Amino acid sequence: MPIDKEKNRSNIKNNDSFFVLAVETSCDETSAAVVQGTSTGPVLLSNIVASQIDRHKDFGGVVPEIASRQHLKVIDKIISAAVREAGIEFSELDSVAATRGPGLVGALLVGFAAAKALAFALNIPFLGINHVAGHIYANFLVQDEVPTPFICLTVSGGHTDLIYFSNRVEYEILGRTRDDAAGEAFDKVARFLELGYPGGPAVEKLAESGSAVSIDFPRALKDSQDYDFSFSGLKTAVINYVHNLKQRGEAVNLPDLAASFQQAVIDSLKLKVERAVEVYQPKALLLAGGVAANSVLRAEFAELAAGHNIPLLLPPLEFCTDNAAMIAAAAYYRRIRGESDPLDLEVEPTLCL
Ligand code: KG4
Ligand code: ZN
Repeated sequence: MPIDKEKNRSNIKNNDSFFVLAVETSCDETSAAVVQGTSTGPVLLSNIVASQIDRHKDFGGVVPEIASRQHLKVIDKIISAAVREAGIEFSELDSVAATRGPGLVGALLVGFAAAKALAFALNIPFLGINHVAGHIYANFLVQDEVPTPFICLTVSGGHTDLIYFSNRVEYEILGRTRDDAAGEAFDKVARFLELGYPGGPAVEKLAESGSAVSIDFPRALKDSQDYDFSFSGLKTAVINYVHNLKQRGEAVNLPDLAASFQQAVIDSLKLKVERAVEVYQPKALLLAGGVAANSVLRAEFAELAAGHNIPLLLPPLEFCTDNAAMIAAAAYYRRIRGESDPLDLEVEPTLCL
């Protein structure tokens, strides 16, 4: 979706606005974005994303060394492009933010060091941003009204968290995955089936022509009264299913397998989200993270929310997967509270919310 800067600018209601540049290099996308902070929220002016997926495809997953080297190669160009496209000068920036974690340490370091260097050179504040928070704040780039309290399900390659927000900044984690993240399950199953990387889109495509009720995969923790998730057993169930068929000399129906696996992931997520909605009675349900790009998941969660008479808010597809716009949005909410971080702050590859 192209950014409509003129429309975005016309939303700006006061003149004392400020510009935040953000950098995201936690995994396999090098990205930089500029938001204009206004009294009504963050307004996106640019979001440049350079994906490295083609460089990792042959390996069936992200190779950390290659990721760092590629980030290093393009980071300066991506940052310049983001500032240029925003139509501002570096000297107009209020602050520079970068993803602090979670992510690959070498990859995080590239964006973090670049952002710190820029903040130091321009003598402006620096902010280290939690990547998972970024995924959630992506919603605030596109939604004018987010009724509170709300519940957000963050589902990506590295995290699966169910979070209750009493307002945009105060939250409580209701549950999270005890082992693999939902996206990780998609990636591992895709790798096992040799569908390529990233796994989510490949599984979703294959599932389109399959039956979601053909194989009864487990919905882990469905009877536990907490809000936790677990996906490693499901991955093992898929592997065992394929091995059993092969041992019997039977062919695997890949589309059926993909559709049934995908449905098991979606059902496991829905079970806990629905329980949380019933108990906490939020005014809205939000989705965030790469797995929220899955169209079956989006449709089923829309149904779930409608069944409880609350809106389902989700970012457009390009803000679901990794991007710096979401990091800039999260940084905006820290800047309006006057926050910044010291330049000796370090990256945190296992950072949690
Ligand atoms: O948010 P993201 O770009 O990076 C992380 O922070 O992890 O999420 C990437 C994850 C990958 O596991 C990928 O397979 C999954 O999101 N994903 C999908 C889809 N598109 C991306 N999973 C299911 N269906 C999709 N269409
Ligand atoms: Zn992410």
